[in-house]
Amino acid sequence: MYGEGDNQVKALDEVSLSVNQGEFVLIVGSSGSGKSTLLNMIGLLDRPTNGTIKIDGVNTTTLNDDKISAFRNTKLGFIFQFSNLLTDLTVLENVLLPRQIGGTTKTANKDATDLLKAVGLESQINKRANKISGGQAQRAAIARGLVNKPSIVLADEPTGNLDSVTSETIVQLMKSMAKRLGQTFVIVTHDRQHFGEVDKVITIKDGKAFEGEDDPSTASGKEMEVVA
Ligand SMILES: Nc1ncnc2c1ncn2[C@@H]1O[C@H](COP(=O)(O)OP(=O)(O)OP(=O)(O)O)[C@@H](O)[C@H]1O
Ligand SMILES: [Mg+2]
Repeated sequence: MYGEGDNQVKALDEVSLSVNQGEFVLIVGSSGSGKSTLLNMIGLLDRPTNGTIKIDGVNTTTLNDDKISAFRNTKLGFIFQFSNLLTDLTVLENVLLPRQIGGTTKTANKDATDLLKAVGLESQINKRANKISGGQAQRAAIARGLVNKPSIVLADEPTGNLDSVTSETIVQLMKSMAKRLGQTFVIVTHDRQHFGEVDKVITIKDGKAFEGEDDPSTASGKEMEVVA
């Protein structure tokens, strides 16, 4: 629920879904249907007015703000439509940022470098972030989203700002990283066709979620369970 009194907007209503460990899941639906709201709730950026969100067996709705932040930093990775790299930093420094929030460890540099190699940016590691292309920046953003070894990677329109050839590459990259690392991916997208075969599709329509891509067999209940 957004807003107060007469201005209240019920963005999601009776959403019930579960995501299993290692699954590659898409959330689709028309503009304004509530996809980002749902993703932000799974990402603990928004709190639901009602209902529970269980991640890794933990009912996150009962956690206080400090615990939520710690949980978000250690268990979740984020990739957005715009890579949001800090342009004064190098590609490597950007990828290391989420690691520094939790206290840098000795292995951070190696982990970040390995990920940058895996996303095909080996030759760009020490370039400043404003000297690389949009597709390369999104690759770096994927590496940044993975550097804390999150249980779940959440992406909101990760290909929304890319041409279709680059989108294909980024999709394949996310799929191969998911397979290689066994990580759960939950991705909001308008580009359904670019993703091809996936483990699960969740469609949001008028704030209600249902599994599959056809017409709603309307989900009921309020529990959202994400196992990672
Ligand atoms: N901060 C907010 N305050 C009030 N209403 C909001 C807020 N954020 C979203 N909404 C409303 O909640 C509903 C769902 O929005 P949401 O952003 O989740 O849709 P979406 O499916 O991600 O759309 P898009 O595909 O355009 O990104 C919409 O009616 C939107 O206007
Ligand atoms: Mg959105």
